[in-house]
Order: sequence, then structure tokens, then C-alpha cells
Amino acid sequence: MRKNIVAGNWKMNNNYQEGMDLAFEISKLVNALPSRNADVILGVPYMLLNDVSSVANAEGIAVASQNVAAWEKGAYTGEVSAIMIKSTGAEYVILGHSERRKYFGEDEAVLRDKIALSLQNELKPIYCCGEVKEEREAGNHFEVVEKQINEGLFNLSAEDFSKVVIAYEPVWAIGTGLTASPEQAQEMHAHIRKLLAGKYGEEAAENTTLLYGGSCNAGNAKELFANPDVDGGLIGGASLKAEDFIQIITAF
Ligand code: PGA
Repeated sequence: MRKNIVAGNWKMNNNYQEGMDLAFEISKLVNALPSRNADVILGVPYMLLNDVSSVANAEGIAVASQNVAAWEKGAYTGEVSAIMIKSTGAEYVILGHSERRKYFGEDEAVLRDKIALSLQNELKPIYCCGEVKEEREAGNHFEVVEKQINEGLFNLSAEDFSKVVIAYEPVWAIGTGLTASPEQAQEMHAHIRKLLAGKYGEEAAENTTLLYGGSCNAGNAKELFANPDVDGGLIGGASLKAEDFIQIITAF
């Protein structure tokens, strides 16, 4: 059976002390929950991976990197490899986020390399996909997401694919306050699951966690997560406030 997951994506917002304070606060609140129906992941900047892992792992919270180098090792000044990330205690890596695609020109070719290196080093990819506003308005959103999944993931063996989490994040909803409606999220997630079933079989598709991302917050998480194919969220802005993030974690 697939897992529910609530993952925070802190992006480039906190300095070291702010990040550690947030990690302590979230860990304390998670610890105080009588029960929870979702795994929790904190997607933090490189310089926080090690110390946030120390704090969060003790409460059963996993940590994700927000990126990884496309090379294994060597003379790549400024880059951080999958081996390095793994050595911090991180378990996941967020890949293909629309901000990486837009500002850093990441396409499926480089993402395939990053996914492969992550998997080789036992880091689980959280693979992001989603259409921009014009593509939705033109009615091409299914096609766009299909292409991103097909070209980014479908070269993986069934075994490797079983480690992947997919996040559907309509770009027009990220950081804009415009959330996809529960119907729009469900419709796309069902579509993605059908694609996965076609490639890897019904059981693999049923076992894959599909997250929704894009202005998901304490107010709308319940409605979004109530859909049968929405297994949690990738949360940006609302993951920076511990109380809000906890409300999202408990929205199942
Ligand atoms: P948001 O970001 O929740 O601030 O819209 C989501 C994301 O980019 O992963």
C-alpha cells in the first residue's frame, strides 16, 4: 500500500539559525502528535542537510535535498553530489522542480542523469512535473505532464521506479495563492496513475505516492488530500511556518 507523504520545500529562504529553529519547532510538534497518517519530509538547502537530519531523523522525519549535481564526483566547483547528500543522512532528493526547470534550464535529459545518480546512492527522487498557465489554458496540460513523466522516468527499471515519488505541481499554482481545485488535482493524479499502470502495471501504479503541490496550505489541504489519488503534498510557503505545516500533516 502506498504511503501518504507531506513534504516541505523550504527553497532558498532560511539562514542557518532560522532553518535549525524551524527544524526544532517542527520536530517538537510532530513528536507531540498522538498519531499521524503521513510520512513527513523536510526539503532543505544543502547547508542544512546534515544538522536538520540530526534533529528531524530522531522524530522519524526524513530530509530531502532540493537538488543534486548531474555528475558523480570531481572538478565541479560549487556542486554537491549524491554521495555527499547521502552522507548527511538525507533520504530523498527533490528533482525537476519548475523553478529548476525555469531558472536553471533543467530538462528531462539532465534530470534522467540526476535521477540515476540519486538512485545509485540510495536517495529517493521526488520528481516534479506540471504545466504552465498557457498550457492549461490551451488544454495541453495532460500532454505536457505525460511528456515530463515519460521522458524523465520511463527509462527506469520497475525496481528503481518503485523508489520514486511524483509531485504534480501546476506551475500557475506555485507561490501564487491559486490552488488547483480538488477536482483538477484528482483528475491529473488519476491520469498520471493511469500512465504509470500502462508502463509498470496496475500494482506499481497503486503503490506510487502522488503528491500535489502549488499553494497547498492549512486551509485547503484536507479537501485536496480527500481525493483518492492525492497522497499528500509538496508544500512551499506553508512549510516555513511550523504550525501551518503541522496542520497540513494532520489533514489526512
Ligand atoms: P507553494 O510552493 O506551496 O509556495 O506554492 C510549492 C512548491 O514549489 O513546491
